[in-house]
Amino acid sequence: MKSSKIILDRSYIIGKVDKRLFGSFVEHLGRCVYEGIYEPEHPLADADGFRTDVLELVKNLGVTLVRYPGGNFVSGFHWEDSIGPMAERPRRMDLAWKTTETNEVGLHEFAEWCGKAGTTLMYTVNLGTRGADDAKNILEYANHPGGSYWSDLRGKNGADAPFRIPVWCLGNEMDAPWQIGQKSAREYGHIARETAKVMKLLDPSIELVACGATGPDIETFGSWELTVLDECYDYIDYISLHRYYENYQNDTASFLAETLDMENYIHSVISFCDAIKGKRHAQKTLNLSFDEWNIWYHSKEQDKKILREECWKQTLPILEDIYNFEDALLAGLMLITMLKHADRIKIACLAQLVNVIAPIMTQKCGKAWVQTIYYPFMYTSKYAKGATVLNTLVETPEYRCHKYDAVPYIDAVAVLGEDDSLTVFCVNRDMEEDHMVTLDLRSFGPLRIKEHILLSGHYPNDCNTADNPDCVQPKKGPGGTIQGHTVTFTAPALSWNLLRLETDTNG
Ligand code: AHR
Repeated sequence: MKSSKIILDRSYIIGKVDKRLFGSFVEHLGRCVYEGIYEPEHPLADADGFRTDVLELVKNLGVTLVRYPGGNFVSGFHWEDSIGPMAERPRRMDLAWKTTETNEVGLHEFAEWCGKAGTTLMYTVNLGTRGADDAKNILEYANHPGGSYWSDLRGKNGADAPFRIPVWCLGNEMDAPWQIGQKSAREYGHIARETAKVMKLLDPSIELVACGATGPDIETFGSWELTVLDECYDYIDYISLHRYYENYQNDTASFLAETLDMENYIHSVISFCDAIKGKRHAQKTLNLSFDEWNIWYHSKEQDKKILREECWKQTLPILEDIYNFEDALLAGLMLITMLKHADRIKIACLAQLVNVIAPIMTQKCGKAWVQTIYYPFMYTSKYAKGATVLNTLVETPEYRCHKYDAVPYIDAVAVLGEDDSLTVFCVNRDMEEDHMVTLDLRSFGPLRIKEHILLSGHYPNDCNTADNPDCVQPKKGPGGTIQGHTVTFTAPALSWNLLRLETDTNG
């Protein structure tokens, strides 16, 4: 058995975890909305057509915020199509996903669903084919209390009280070649600034997210952020990051190391923000919104066929990745990586929520079940939300793989809860050996192990399906031993671990 050590000091703090770090994403794409959250014909649908089985799974997941309505979808979307009497709403061709959008679920319905799910709506405006004026109109419609054209129309459409949407995204992936209305950095920076200006004139309470580059692999990355931020730094609150990982080569060792890339990506975006802060002599520090993250590759081949053969139908079953055990480990590692940057990442969205690259799957008129990636998210949300992240020093042997030279076997982060309980999230990337992990808790008083939860003992490709929904699920771990201020536990080969300790504040 190999050995690793984690050193923690309760005074070495990274920052408080913003509860919006546990956001997700619902796009009008595939079966996310229709047959996902909304299916009036389903036996478990409520009076508004929402699936109550899905609502329960969403609540249990601990999703604090949901980005809506896209994604690529939003760049050709007219928000006015999604309000007013349902029967009169237009059917539109969604060019982003080659689907017919019925607009049956629109702004009012989704706001209603968010209320039922106990989550906050985050809205993306269309800066692909539209601009500042339309963004102002939907903001007036959604957030203004009344007495103006758009806010009164909201009242006529059945909602006297404003929706009070607190966070708005200024378009989606506007540098991407596939985006409808793709822009150069200078063009986008300008439109983002002018849109931000009018939106904040109308409602100064809102927060705004500008689009960062679509990811670190796209050629615009870096120059995009520097140019866009130079244009709109003073008017926005966050810059976005998007990242999806894949394992086409069936190379688990490299796949599980991808958070090294994620770490680099986050560092770079923070550097871009701070460079512009310095250049502009600004007081404000810009924070990050990691508003699309996940694993996405399992469905890509089959989607090409579906989109070739069935385009313009409604509710195409696209992006239906079936997640396996190693995906759950990487999702857990991605959460650990974001927690380590809780001082700058204030919003993050697991993309997406139901059926589309999602932790929750449904059958039409049938079952709902959870995928492997559901569990690390659920537990991390449960115990890290509102907690304080500690600077987590990990001493661990490293391995070499196809993609990276030196990958730590053990990755971990610890958070101190409001009730002073200490939670350690820890992944062992070692495919062969268990690790004896020693926690050096020198600054803590008397300790007691409350809980050890484990996701382990599976083949990398094991997954949950409608017929076998419980194949991969967490189990109770054996805990560990305590000697003074040292706690020792075993992190099995290929495992995600959660260790909760009760600490004595006066110790
Ligand atoms: O989440 C799926 C898609 O990925 C989104 O629509 C888009 O923003 C990204 O490219």
